[in-house]
Amino acid sequence: MKRTSFAKLSRQSQELLEAARAAMEGAYNPYSKFFVGAALRASSGEIISGSNFENASYSVVVCAERSAIVRASAMGCKTFSRIAVIGRGARSPSKSIVSPCGVCRQMLMESAQLSNRNIEVIMSSSDMKSIVVATIRELLPLGFGPHNLGMDLRRFQR
Ligand code: THU
Repeated sequence: MKRTSFAKLSRQSQELLEAARAAMEGAYNPYSKFFVGAALRASSGEIISGSNFENASYSVVVCAERSAIVRASAMGCKTFSRIAVIGRGARSPSKSIVSPCGVCRQMLMESAQLSNRNIEVIMSSSDMKSIVVATIRELLPLGFGPHNLGMDLRRFQR
């Protein structure tokens, strides 16, 4: 896990973070008014993003990370190595980073084992002045995943 700056990120990671920032504006967030955007790069090179989508039954909320992962999957991309996440809220300081919730970490663990990669998660504050990069294994140590069930996921690896 490391703290870094936008300038020190690779060009690829900068592009992902910029796409996540743009996606944040697409949030459906009437309840929390909290904006979150996430973006990943498909093997084709295309950047696929998502934003949070809330629900009057609060527990039904879909976070930006899961929205990006499911959207990518539906578009034919189930494997990736990096995801950027950024968010802002009226009551959250612009300097605080957004890190994936527990459910999203579990979902990222599925993607990591499916991708045969320890996915890198770039977490940013809305002003992009605080950035932390960590792997999913750091965010979800001793996580449970398809490997625990002995799954052979090769036919999904695209
Ligand atoms: N949210 C995300 O989209 N991703 C996260 O990592 C944390 C939380 C959303 C869910 C909800 O719409 C709002 O932020 C407040 O919890």
